Amino acid sequence: MSSSQLPPSLLPDSSEVLESDVLVGGVSLLKLAQDFGTPLFVYDEATLISRLQEAARVFDDGVAFASKSFLCGAMAKLAVANGLCVDVATDGELDIVLRAGVDPQRIVVHGNNKSEGEILRAIEIGVHRLVVDSFDEIDKIRRLLRPEQALSCLVRVTPGIEAHTHEFVRTGQEDSKFGFSISSGDARRAINALQGIPGVLLHGVHAHIGSQIFDTIGFQEELKVLIEFTKGDRFSELCIGGGLGVAYVEGESAPSIEEWGAMVRSTAAQLGLDSSVKLTAEPGRAIVAQAGMTLYEVGTVKELAMRTYVAVNGGMSDNPRPVLYGSGYEAFDVSRPLAPRPREVRIVGKHCESGDVLVDQAWLPIETGVGDIISTPVTGAYGYSMASNYNRVPRPAVVFVKDGLARLVLRRETLDDLANLEVE
Ligand SMILES: Cc1ncc(COP(=O)(O)O)c(C=O)c1O
Repeated sequence: MSSSQLPPSLLPDSSEVLESDVLVGGVSLLKLAQDFGTPLFVYDEATLISRLQEAARVFDDGVAFASKSFLCGAMAKLAVANGLCVDVATDGELDIVLRAGVDPQRIVVHGNNKSEGEILRAIEIGVHRLVVDSFDEIDKIRRLLRPEQALSCLVRVTPGIEAHTHEFVRTGQEDSKFGFSISSGDARRAINALQGIPGVLLHGVHAHIGSQIFDTIGFQEELKVLIEFTKGDRFSELCIGGGLGVAYVEGESAPSIEEWGAMVRSTAAQLGLDSSVKLTAEPGRAIVAQAGMTLYEVGTVKELAMRTYVAVNGGMSDNPRPVLYGSGYEAFDVSRPLAPRPREVRIVGKHCESGDVLVDQAWLPIETGVGDIISTPVTGAYGYSMASNYNRVPRPAVVFVKDGLARLVLRRETLDDLANLEVE
């Protein structure tokens, strides 16, 4: 941590830092805060498009955007328009993607506990892939798939790899609720069972070892296990899942999607994988994190003997990651982006929890005070998508900016929206 200026690499690609404002996509952040209110999620379309195109270039057709990282209709359309499929993990995500007009043939359906309804819907609309996760799911598919129907599947396996990341987002190890263990023989039994169901087209295997991974060695180990496991299978696809990390704070650096893809390809070639086998992936965070930022207004500043608390008009309801994973963020004063940041503060939200911390150790200019707009950059992933209504706080609006124009893609939730669920 330091008190220097915010590293520009943490801002969206199109950002222009001015003396007393920051432009993203050619649009003033101060003006966005004024026009749309705060808290506000702002996404730079140029960054989104660039990351999507990078993923489409380095992986084979079928590479999917992991919509759990950030989903709205506009995002789903953008992913598909730039060559990706969209991966969904629940009926709710599937519904948004279908309402956006995405062709079911570009949808990958996940879930460790899919309901009959979810499986039936996937069969009926004819999705690109259903990623099978349990023996109970295989039983459901056997029951639900009619003889004249077909279902394209991958089998999710646990390769037994401990990715170097937070335990809550580690998923490739044996002790996991996801997928079938290779070492116990369950993965092989699942493949045999699926191959015995008429209409099931089993294209290959899928694994996802975790999230926010900086060290690509984990992906190399994963590939080694998958290639060895499927040696005799004549599958046409290996999906390595998502998980590529991103830099959130000064001093962190992560491989680009391009570097990740190149490493995957060269590892696969070295391990002798037939070049006709499609190598696919499901990046989420690496596509949306740096494209997005959150704007808040400072409401109170409390100077205590041991620290200064800066309270903003959002908090753990729009970004639960610091509370869930202890994640770090940077912050800057939008009207003083070039000012030195010598003042160490804790940025907190407006929720009734002491743990409602957005940035535990933030650095702000001396002058930042009540009424100023501050921004936390790199909040495009798992912020809005994990947002809640805790303390009955309505969810923020989301705008996309590009070429000097802002478009509202998700309106701010209202008190009426919240009250609409009341029955009496
Ligand atoms: C199956 C699967 N694929 C892809 C992803 C996306 O991961 P990330 O956003 O870290 O790229 C996840 C995240 O949890 C996942 O569970």
